[in-house]
Formats: sequence, C-alpha cells, structure tokens
Amino acid sequence: MQLSGNTILITGGGSGIGLGLALRFLENNEVILCGRDAEKLNAAKALHPRFHTIQCDVSHEEERKRLFQTVKKDFPKINVLVNNAGIQRRVDVTTDEPWAETQSELAINLEAPMHLARLFIPYFETRSHACIINVTSGLAFAPMALMPIYCASKAALHSFTLSLRHSLLAKNIEVIEIIPPAVNTDLGGKGLHDFGVPLDEFSDGIFQGLKEGRTEIAYGTSLKSSRASREEKDQIFRAMNSSSRV
Ligand SMILES: NC(=O)c1ccc[n+]([C@@H]2O[C@H](COP(=O)([O-])OP(=O)(O)OC[C@H]3O[C@@H](n4cnc5c(N)ncnc54)[C@H](OP(=O)(O)O)[C@@H]3O)[C@@H](O)[C@H]2O)c1
Repeated sequence: MQLSGNTILITGGGSGIGLGLALRFLENNEVILCGRDAEKLNAAKALHPRFHTIQCDVSHEEERKRLFQTVKKDFPKINVLVNNAGIQRRVDVTTDEPWAETQSELAINLEAPMHLARLFIPYFETRSHACIINVTSGLAFAPMALMPIYCASKAALHSFTLSLRHSLLAKNIEVIEIIPPAVNTDLGGKGLHDFGVPLDEFSDGIFQGLKEGRTEIAYGTSLKSSRASREEKDQIFRAMNSSSRV
C-alpha cells in the first residue's frame, strides 16, 4: 500500500494495536478512529487533535451501515479500511452460557470485517490506492483451547482474507493481513497480555512490513505459526495447550 496521502478508517483504533498503527499513519494520512467507548476515542483525540473519531459498535449490522454512510459523506477520500476491532473471551465450551455471548464475539471478530469489506468495496473501486487490512492472529493457525470462539473467528478471518485478496485482484483493491503474536495490550482484560511483545516494537515491525510492500505481515512467534507445516502446527498446538489439559 502507499504509506501517505490516504484516508484511513481503523476500527478499534482508540486503543492497543489499532492506536499503535493509527499513530504511525497519522504523520502522512488522514486517520479516522472508530470504537464503542467515547472516552477512549476522546482521549486519543485530546493527545492528537488531527485524529477524527466516530463512535460505533461494529457488532451491529445497522451500525456498520451507518458507519459506512457517515465515512463516505464526511470523508469522501476514504481509501483504506483497517478491520482491527476485536475481543477475546476465555470460554469453557463444556459449560453452558447464553448463545448471545458467542454470537457477539463472532459478530465483532468475523461478521464485522466481512460486512464492512463488502460495504466499502463498491466505493473503493472508484478510489485509487484502495486497500483493506484485516487483523487476524497467530492463533488463527494453531488455536488455544481456552479461547475457542476467538481462535475460530480468526482462522475464519484468515480464510476470508485469502479469498478477498484473490477476488479483488481484478478490481485493483489491495488486501493485507496483519498477523500479530501476543502483544502487550488490554485484549481480553487488563494484564492478560502483559507477557506479549511491547506494542511499539510490534507496531514498528508491522510498519516495516507495510513499507516493504508485503501483503501478509506476521511478527515474532506468529512468523513461525503462520508459515508452519501441519506437523509443526500440531506441535505448537500441543505446547500451547499442555498446561490447560484436563
Ligand atoms: N494483543 C494481542 O495479543 C493480539 C494478538 C493477536 C491478534 N490481536 C488482534 O488485534 C486486534 C486489536 O486488539 P488489541 O490487542 O489492540 O486489543 P484492545 O486494546 O482491546 O483493542 C481492541 C479494540 O477494539 C475495539 N472494539 C472492541 N469491540 C468493538 C466493537 N463491537 N465495535 C467497535 N470497536 C470495538 C475496542 O474499543 P471499544 O472497547 O471502545 O469498543 C478496542 O479499541 C484484535 O482484532 C485482536 O484480536 C491481538
């Protein structure tokens, strides 16, 4: 993708990886942050007044449509969509919980990127240097059984991203996948990812991949898992899940 002169919408851009990327894009691009929590968005804008913000819960179909219409009207130069918003829940699939919990996790992590891509594609066909970036996970390639819905949603998003890239070749819309390893953010709750790669280090690494023109950008341990053979994935799976075996 070109790294300057874009107008970029980043879902979940008010914190974590979305904000890390947003700060790096901000120097040479217009950047719109979207998220549910107005306080997070306001805090980002207070620090960097050039950010634009839109409050939106991307888990709802009507809100996604509203987001697309608002962005198209207020930022007609929009040419990059970053599907970054995500949640991660620890779920014991052997016990019952209201189905709405699973549905909502799937809606945020999988439905939203699929639907937003499809909303933006016809408009992106009229724009130059259009690009869709999907944020998946190293866990798309070898799941952690503690977070089964999350891992399944990311595996599905990886699959969708491959199909999307292929389908958009003729339409001149680039599709990029960012595949993070564990990164030190508040994903899943404060403290659960403290062991992860520092956010700045990760964000710089991803930006380097963007500069090099790569369309699949992994970092750290996700470099290995995303390129692993089936046997290697089985090994990674066993190693990651050994301590939580029942
Ligand atoms: N951190 C890691 O270890 C790691 C590893 C692999 C992949 N990833 C992926 O990286 C992406 C960013 O996660 P992160 O680590 O930066 O976690 P984070 O700091 O919790 O960021 C997630 C962002 O998504 C937003 N969000 C959540 N639900 C939303 C919804 N329904 N509508 C709109 N925005 C929503 C949150 O803002 P609001 O709460 O204000 O809505 C928040 O800004 C996710 O897709 C995650 O799966 C992270």
